[in-house]
Amino acid sequence: MRILVMGGTRFIGRHFVIAAERRGHSVTLFHRGRHSTTLFPDAEQVIGDRDRDLGLLADGTWDTTVDFSAYVPRQVRQVGAALGERSGRYVLLSSTAVYAPPQRYGFREDAPLVALSDPTTEDMTDETYGGLKALCERAASETFSDPLIVRPTYVVGPLDYTGRFTWWVQRIARGGEVLAPGPQDALFQLIDVRDLTEWLVRMLEAGSGGTYHLAHPFPPVSFGTMLADIVGVVGHDDVTLTWVDREFLLAAGVDGTSLPLWPGASPDGVLEAADPARAIGVGLVTRSLPETIRDLYQHECASPTPVPEPVGMTPEAETELLQRWKARPHR
Ligand SMILES: NC(=O)c1ccc[n+]([C@@H]2O[C@H](COP(=O)([O-])OP(=O)(O)OC[C@H]3O[C@@H](n4cnc5c(N)ncnc54)[C@H](OP(=O)(O)O)[C@@H]3O)[C@@H](O)[C@H]2O)c1
Repeated sequence: MRILVMGGTRFIGRHFVIAAERRGHSVTLFHRGRHSTTLFPDAEQVIGDRDRDLGLLADGTWDTTVDFSAYVPRQVRQVGAALGERSGRYVLLSSTAVYAPPQRYGFREDAPLVALSDPTTEDMTDETYGGLKALCERAASETFSDPLIVRPTYVVGPLDYTGRFTWWVQRIARGGEVLAPGPQDALFQLIDVRDLTEWLVRMLEAGSGGTYHLAHPFPPVSFGTMLADIVGVVGHDDVTLTWVDREFLLAAGVDGTSLPLWPGASPDGVLEAADPARAIGVGLVTRSLPETIRDLYQHECASPTPVPEPVGMTPEAETELLQRWKARPHR
């Protein structure tokens, strides 16, 4: 296949290009060149900003266009206008953030979506991200014939520049007393970037459209099990997890940035529990959480991924919170 990748040089897109080239496909990358122009010597590189330079794609024809960098619906429509049928099948990297919370346990792809109060906004924030992605999905369906819409939950693995899951692996590897944010039994799902991208390449080879969420495992693990798995893979003898109540942490101003992926940071205190049966039915294969943790840790030890926006808590802040937790009255 000839594959046009909108993006492809940071994390998910980069793993996708690795998986596509490994399967013998020919890749064109469209990006601004801010991260690297030399990662994929066998790929054609078109350097431009998608918001103004889509004319640079005037010549090619592709079997599929995989869009990793559309955040507002205008960007999806502009790809359609610039490429027409030359795009081949359009693939949108969306997110489980499109679902309107709260969802019932085991929700499927037909669950209700977020609706923005101002659907004309292009202001991408934590609050508008899911609603804008839902509008991108609608634009994809209106612009292209039978697009493939992919809704991953937290994507983790080597090169993850969000640093969120990576932070927990590195924190626990550092050892000592770890502040573990409750509730311990909050549900948790993620998807290994390699499982996502290998599945995506096979979906394109099969010529499939449709909407799929990617979340693993199902039934979900608990946040406590997830941290215990990390301890099991990278933890030294001196590691202990001290569970601290959600209310105590919220009152202390802790949020999902200082303790990344903490389910308690969301307003209803839970994360999603999506049933991935649809994607599994068309070939999604997921590796075990310990394998994901081990590979991520080995990669980050050998070649740490820069994280542009800081996540996680300093050792001093963690120690201070633990001391306050233990000294609280009415224990
Ligand atoms: N990480 C997660 O947990 C997660 C979860 C669910 C969904 N997603 C979705 O996954 C997608 C992101 O994946 P990724 O960042 O890892 O993909 P990526 O394709 O590896 O990186 C983003 C690419 O987009 C390019 N890009 C950004 N803005 C551009 C512009 N204006 N014009 C041209 N190129 C542009 C970047 O290069 P330049 O900066 O050099 O242009 C880079 O190549 C997003 O759609 C996100 O919503 C992520």
